[in-house]
Amino acid sequence: MKILVTGGAGFIGANFVYYELNNHREDEIVCLDKLTYAGNLETLTAAFSNPKFKFYKADICDREEIERIFDAEKFDVVVNFAAESHVDRSIENPEIFLKTNIIGTQVLMDASRKFNVKRFHQVSTDEVYGDLPLDRPDLFFTESTPLKTSSPYSSSKAGADLLVNAYHRTYGLPTTISRCSNNYGPYQFPEKLIPLMIANALENKPLPVYGEGINVRDWLYVEDHCKAIDLIIRKGKVGEVYNIGGHNEMRNIDIVKLIIKELNKSEDLIVHIEDRKGHDMRYAIDPTKIHNELGWLPETKFADGIIKTIKWYLDNKVWWENIISGEYKNYYDKAYKERIEKAK
Ligand code: NAD
Ligand code: DAU
Repeated sequence: MKILVTGGAGFIGANFVYYELNNHREDEIVCLDKLTYAGNLETLTAAFSNPKFKFYKADICDREEIERIFDAEKFDVVVNFAAESHVDRSIENPEIFLKTNIIGTQVLMDASRKFNVKRFHQVSTDEVYGDLPLDRPDLFFTESTPLKTSSPYSSSKAGADLLVNAYHRTYGLPTTISRCSNNYGPYQFPEKLIPLMIANALENKPLPVYGEGINVRDWLYVEDHCKAIDLIIRKGKVGEVYNIGGHNEMRNIDIVKLIIKELNKSEDLIVHIEDRKGHDMRYAIDPTKIHNELGWLPETKFADGIIKTIKWYLDNKVWWENIISGEYKNYYDKAYKERIEKAK
């Protein structure tokens, strides 16, 4: 089988590239990535030495280039990870989110129709369901929960999901969609909560917690997400949506305190800063369907996964130090400097 992985130089896409190369040695993996600020070729260094791996630098919105690549490669399966993925950036500049996440998905699906791709898998997110109240721990997102988005990011992902379902119903494109909760693990860009807190704590910098830090996310180790997608593309039912989550709900403040403890730092580093606009309170996935139909269960417990992740960031300082010394520094100063000053 030949699998196209778009966005494979990013966090989850790269972990998926390695998952496939390690677990399906007979398959060919082609990665296509625009290498935006979030894409990093260094992440794929080990993949480049595998003869079953190939890389294209391309934009999923560039119809001509995408069709040329699809024509040349004749993919069996397309897994679309490519996206603008950071909620805070979407609040500052929604446009690129609509372009990449919606138009880019459309371009990939048009090419998939034209070149007879057997499965188009869309990597979506639990954020399309909006949020749940903190005082109703009995509520969970199921696949039939209505879409009700809060941020430009989640709206662009929901828009893409609707379009995927429309391409299935209208044109018969063999699609599947997965909606996963928050991932953590190796190669996550240090703008996201867990790697940002690890990197800042290691450098004794302030740890910027939005508001009181009581928002809840349902954390899943990235390899478990990759395994779920692998099962869906091989055994999942065409036209279906699958929720993926680990029943591992945690408050942001508790994650930050855990990282501080593991790194032997002081809680005095925590700064409660002005909240994210439209901040979702709680996400919680009900993964019953993927468990019952495909036998998927998360394998990594949070207590083990977070230690592995912290160790990875300690062992791979050069990887994230290169990132935080580049363009990211301007983003960080713009997003945090004033809010941290104000909070002091
Ligand atoms: P990421 O930001 O780390 O990586 C995104 C990748 O897409 C980067 O390599 C980037 O260069 C590439 N990209 C962006 N625009 C592109 C374009 N126009 N053409 C080609 N490539 C482009 O994101 P991530 O956290 O790895 O998320 C991957 C996918 O999973 C996204 O679709 C996201 O919505 C979804 N998701 C993420 C999480 C999470 O917790 N991180 C959870 C659920 C779903
Ligand atoms: O739920 C899946 C989603 O998880 C994915 O679709 C997104 O691509 C991914 O970025 C992630 O979105 P979140 O907004 O939940 O993740 P983030 O790491 O940005 O924030 C996690 C929580 O931590 C959130 O409640 C905001 C808070 N936070 C985040 C940052 C970056 C802070 O308190 N301080 C911070 O500096």
